[in-house]
Amino acid sequence: MLHDLLQHRRAVRYFDTERQLDSERVRRRLEEAALAPTSSNMQLWECYHITDPELIARLAPACFDQSAVRTASQLVAFAITPQRWRAHAEAVLAFQREDLPRHFPEDKWPKYLALQENYYGKLIPLLYRRGWGLWGQLRRALFSLVGLVRPVPRETTEAAMRTVLHKSCALVVQSFLLGMSEEGYDTCPLEGYDSRRVARLLGLECGSELTMLIACGYRSTERPEGGRFRLPFAQQYHRIGS
Ligand SMILES: Cc1cc2nc3c(=O)[nH]c(=O)nc-3n(C[C@H](O)[C@H](O)[C@H](O)COP(=O)(O)O)c2cc1C
Repeated sequence: MLHDLLQHRRAVRYFDTERQLDSERVRRRLEEAALAPTSSNMQLWECYHITDPELIARLAPACFDQSAVRTASQLVAFAITPQRWRAHAEAVLAFQREDLPRHFPEDKWPKYLALQENYYGKLIPLLYRRGWGLWGQLRRALFSLVGLVRPVPRETTEAAMRTVLHKSCALVVQSFLLGMSEEGYDTCPLEGYDSRRVARLLGLECGSELTMLIACGYRSTERPEGGRFRLPFAQQYHRIGS
């Protein structure tokens, strides 16, 4: 039950160093996490599943020696890949060209295909093209102008587009965290690290940018987590409507 998984998942800072995870089961949970939704289905993310204890030991100092990393059985680094936008847009479009005829009546194909071609062939390049921040500034100016007379996307600078990708990647991460809970495994999401050092140790491609590291293992019974703090939900819940 989702309810139980949400209760079980904690940010675990001390793992049982005597118990190792099954790498294949972790890999399967990562594969399932890829079913998470991503903006425009662009899937501009990747993950590095680190099972080598030596590499984990080398990563620990770059993660400020956090106990979750020092005691982890495995680590997973999630990153966004904004540099691959063109290839992914082409892949989605190629899929749509094959898939449309399977699901829609023939007389609708040209119209639906034209919509997809327009979306992935024109709008996505307009939003995702990058170059030293200049494209983003141009986009913002263009959309601000058009926005005077009609609704437009506002988050269009290159920095804002990276936020778009981190949002999607975070959904993949959360799916993975819950999948790991279902497996009976524990995790700790981390952003406390020196991203440049971690990227170098992992050999991240130029353009890729870390979203989060996930330390994985079995929670230690000797160093249990404390209580769980959440703000009163009423502070965060706003109902609009009856
Ligand atoms: C994006 C993100 C970054 C985090 N970074 C760290 C971190 O560097 N070190 C750490 O011990 N916990 C980290 N956490 C875990 C949070 O502190 C933890 O989720 C929060 O205190 C709530 O506890 P719970 O997850 O057990 O409910 C991070 C969580 C998120 C979502």
